[in-house]
Amino acid sequence: MSPHVLIFPLPMQGPVNCMLKLAELICISGISVTVLNTDHIHRTLLRHTNVLSRFSRYPNFRFQTISDGLPDDHPRSGKRVLDLFEGMKNVTEPVFREMMVSGCFSSKSDFPVTVIIPDGSFAFALDVAEEIQVPLIYFETVSPCALWTYLCLPNLIGAGEVPFDGNDLDIIIKGVPGTETFLRRRDLPSFCRFNNVANPVTEIIMKEARYVPRAHGVILNTFQALDELVLVPMRTLCPNIYCIGPIHTLFKSHLASETKATTQTPQSNVSNSLWEENITCLSWLDMQVTRSVVHVSIGSMATMTVDQFFEFWHGLVNSGKPFLWVQRLGSVIGEYNDDQVPKHLVDETKLRGFITTWVPQEAVLAHSAIGGFLTHSGWNSTIESVMEGVPMICWPQNVDQQVNSRFVSEVWKIGIDIKDTCDRFIIEKAVKEVIDVRRSEFIESLRILAELGDQSVAEDGSSVVDLNRLIKSISSL
Ligand code: UDX
Repeated sequence: MSPHVLIFPLPMQGPVNCMLKLAELICISGISVTVLNTDHIHRTLLRHTNVLSRFSRYPNFRFQTISDGLPDDHPRSGKRVLDLFEGMKNVTEPVFREMMVSGCFSSKSDFPVTVIIPDGSFAFALDVAEEIQVPLIYFETVSPCALWTYLCLPNLIGAGEVPFDGNDLDIIIKGVPGTETFLRRRDLPSFCRFNNVANPVTEIIMKEARYVPRAHGVILNTFQALDELVLVPMRTLCPNIYCIGPIHTLFKSHLASETKATTQTPQSNVSNSLWEENITCLSWLDMQVTRSVVHVSIGSMATMTVDQFFEFWHGLVNSGKPFLWVQRLGSVIGEYNDDQVPKHLVDETKLRGFITTWVPQEAVLAHSAIGGFLTHSGWNSTIESVMEGVPMICWPQNVDQQVNSRFVSEVWKIGIDIKDTCDRFIIEKAVKEVIDVRRSEFIESLRILAELGDQSVAEDGSSVVDLNRLIKSISSL
C-alpha cells in the first residue's frame, strides 16, 4: 500500500500555517497528502491566498473539508472561541469518525490513508485511528514548554498545585520537572487559574495530556537546542519526538534547494494567511531607521478591551518610537467614539505610526527597520521572532502563551514579560528597553539562538534529520 497521510489542523491561523507547511514538505518527498480543513478555513484560505494554485503543482496532494458546526459569519475568536470547541465536539468529531470508518479515508477507499497527523488537541482522532487501526502521529503546534506543562497537569492536580485562585500568583510551581526554579503560578496556562479546571478548554487539555503519549509519535515545531530543557523530561513520556522546527525556516530552506536543483522559478507567494495582508507596510518600513520600529500584534484569536487598547496606544505614543500596529478586525472588544481619542494620539500616530488589520508577519519581522515585537506570545510568532533576532515584549492571553512568555524572559532571555499588566507606563518603559536600553543584551542571546536554529535546518542539521526520519517512518508504517 503506498503511503498516504491525512493532515488535520486545528482551525486557527498558527496551526493552519505550520501544518500546511508540513503538508508541502511531505508532498515534496513524493508521499501522498490530504489536508482536511474546516469548510470555514478552506473558504477563507481561498479568499486570501493562492493555496489552490500553489498546491496544484503536486499531483500527490488534495484538500478535503469538514464542518466546524458554526455559521460562516461566527467570529471564532476571543471568548467565542469556546463555541468553536463546542461545534467541533458536536459536529466535526462524529463526521470525522463517519468519514474514516465508512471508507471515505479508510482502507476501503481506493486511496487509503496510512497515517493520520492531526493537531495535538484532537484526542478524538486517536480514538478513531485506534478503531480503524491506522497509526497516528500528533503535530503539537503549541510550544514544547507549554506542552510539557500540559503533560504534567494530571500530576499538578494530584499534588494540589493546580487549580488555584487569582491570589499569590508568584508562588513557584514544583511539579513541572526542569522548571522548578522559575515557573510561577501566573506562568501556567490561563485555564489553571480561578479554581476553574472544569471549563471546556481544561477538559480538552487534560485529554490531550492522556492521549499524546499514546500516539505513535509527536511532531514539534522547535529545534533541539532551543527546547532541550523540556525535551529531555518529555521524552520519558513520549519517546518518539520529531523536532522539525522552526518549520517556516525549514520550509524556506527546502524550497530554496528545490528551486536550485530544478532551476524552477521560486514560488513568490507562499502565504497561508486567513486575512488579507497589507503589503504596503513594507514600503513604510523601508522609510524607517534601522532597528527603530516596534511591531505590535496579538495574533489571530486574542482580544483586548477598549481600556487596554487605549493603554497600548498611550504607551506606544509615549515611547517616542515608531510603531507598526496590527489591529485585527474584531480584536478590540467594546466601542469608543472618536471624540474619546486624545488629539495628540492621533497626531503622533500620523507622524510615527502605521495601523492596519493584517500584515505579512514573517516579512515584517525580517525587515531591518524592526527593533522589537509587542506580541501575545503565540508560539508561531515567538519562533518567527527568535529566527529574525527581534526582542519581544510579551503580553500573553491564553493557553500556551503564559508559559511561552516566561521562557522568553527567564530561559532564553530575549525579551520582557509584562503578563497580567496593561498599563501605559509599563508599555512605554518596555518599548524603550527592547529598542534601546537592553537591546544589546537581548540581541546577543537572540544571535546565538538564531544561529542554532539555522544550523538545525542546514544539511544534516537536527531538524532536517528529524524530518527525514519522519518521512521514512510515514513510508514504512
Ligand atoms: C494560536 C494560539 O493563540 C497560540 O497560543 C498557539 O501557540 C498557536 O495557535 P495564533 O493567535 O494564531 O495562535 O498566534 P501564533 O501562533 O503566533 O500564529 C500567528 C501566525 O499568524 C504567525 O505565523 C504569524 O506570522 C501570522 N500573522 C500574524 C500574520 O501573518 N500576519 C499578522 O498580521 C499577524
